Amino acid sequence: MKRIPEAEMMNDAAQAAAYAGADFVQPNTLFVDTFARCFPDFNGCWMIDLGCGPADIPIRFARAYPGLQLVAVDGADAMIALASEAVQHAGMTARVQPVRWRLGREPAPEVAQRSFDAAISNSLLHHMADPRVLWSTILQCVEPAAPVLVMDLERPRDEARARDMVEEHSGDEPAILKHDFFHSLLASYRVEEVRTQLDTAGLPHFKVERLGDRHLVAYGRTGCA
Ligand SMILES: C[S@@+](CC[C@H](N)C(=O)[O-])C[C@H]1O[C@@H](n2cnc3c(N)ncnc32)[C@H](O)[C@@H]1O
Repeated sequence: MKRIPEAEMMNDAAQAAAYAGADFVQPNTLFVDTFARCFPDFNGCWMIDLGCGPADIPIRFARAYPGLQLVAVDGADAMIALASEAVQHAGMTARVQPVRWRLGREPAPEVAQRSFDAAISNSLLHHMADPRVLWSTILQCVEPAAPVLVMDLERPRDEARARDMVEEHSGDEPAILKHDFFHSLLASYRVEEVRTQLDTAGLPHFKVERLGDRHLVAYGRTGCA
């Protein structure tokens, strides 16, 4: 099935609220566990989360790594408002800083101009109008040899399979969320396509693998073969 891009930003308030209210415990736990499995010795101080959405993942990282400070960026005002609420509710305002930044369109805000010890991103890649922007932003943001983990959906073989996956994984969720999940599946990349992106971005030593029944992960350390 050919990829069908979807809108880059999640700026619509209803769309952002539905996303923030959805149950992402399983994939978000998988994300944190996968980082720990890929980088068992990580003990850095500063991490950036690109396309943080409502900040559930950076809050989970702050809990899992007590010495970590996180800058969580997203280009959508609606998402940053929800992220700020969630961070406050979690009592993490001293350690997780949500900041609005649209990658590829705006210069980095001051808080994101430091050199980070790690970069993470979940479910942003398939939203990007140009995927090269994600890989080049990561390279600009991190220290040499910093751990990087990018997770996303993998595009299924056809629309019928995408529809089945929506029912399997979000059958009881609101219609707006099911609509977005379906279009995200159609917009996502295949493992082979991410492999090509990494090779082109100067990250040929990064690994890219299928994870579970609907995700892929790309990971590695910048500047390390
Ligand atoms: C599907 S959500 C994922 C949110 C979060 N990472 C998670 O796993 O829950 C994708 C997010 O990327 C943001 N986004 C898309 N394009 C972006 C860009 N160019 N710069 C910054 N954020 C972007 C959207 O606004 C949206 O909040």
